Amino acid sequence: MKAAIVTGASSGIGLEISKILLKLGYKVYGIGRDFSKSDITNECFIPIICDLMDTSLLCEKIKDIGKNEDVYILVNNAGVGYFGPHEELSAKKIHEMVAVNLEAPLILTQLLLRDLKKNSGFIINISSITAKESSTYGCAYGATKAALTHFSNSLFDEARKYGVKVIAIHPDMTKSNFYRNANFREGDIPESYIMPEEIAKALEMVLTQREGMVITDITLKPQKHRIRRTP
Ligand SMILES: NC(=O)c1ccc[n+]([C@@H]2O[C@H](COP(=O)([O-])OP(=O)(O)OC[C@H]3O[C@@H](n4cnc5c(N)ncnc54)[C@H](OP(=O)(O)O)[C@@H]3O)[C@@H](O)[C@H]2O)c1
Repeated sequence: MKAAIVTGASSGIGLEISKILLKLGYKVYGIGRDFSKSDITNECFIPIICDLMDTSLLCEKIKDIGKNEDVYILVNNAGVGYFGPHEELSAKKIHEMVAVNLEAPLILTQLLLRDLKKNSGFIINISSITAKESSTYGCAYGATKAALTHFSNSLFDEARKYGVKVIAIHPDMTKSNFYRNANFREGDIPESYIMPEEIAKALEMVLTQREGMVITDITLKPQKHRIRRTP
């Protein structure tokens, strides 16, 4: 059975991506810290409890998976966002965003690239619309995502001759628990947000193209730009 690794598989976009990969017949290793939010009961889903900021534990877990599995897909989805005027962020929050949103994908890719080359596999990076547009009150978050997108583009050029596909997905406002630390969230009407399932469907489209043609970049936006302030 082909294996996939999905970070941030315990909720939101990563949870829906895991469900689609299970439907497509993959064994899914999901990385997260707390799976109590997950409703997956499929025995082909293996939750791996690991804080992505703990680099040595992460390397250990990935090496363990590699001993038994042929990894075909890496989805770098886990992410964290702190928003507000840049001077009001703390060094701790900045460190967490860089470590989870950028450093972990770079390390995971480094650990798995040899296998992914052998298997002509996929690396999917869940970036953000903030990688492409100016992001007032999300300067540091947007910087981590712009770097992730830049990494995706360069890595595809580096690895394409080995059959590796690298895809950056850029969602706009998505209905998940992501904005729990922010003083805003998606608007009330369905035209103001994307659903995590819709991002997973875009991923399914990427994975089901013919060998030889690669969708490298996807941007998903709701029809209307509307956010809601929260206390
Ligand atoms: N929601 C949006 O509007 C939006 C828009 C554009 C891009 N994105 C991106 O989409 C990705 C998924 O976000 P989401 O909307 O699905 O939010 P979410 O529901 O908050 O999910 C975030 C996931 O990341 C995991 N995670 C965070 N820090 C971690 C850590 N230190 N170690 C291990 N896992 C960690 C969480 O797992 P645990 O809780 O189990 O630790 C959770 O599964 C993120 O990269 C985000 O930047 C979101």
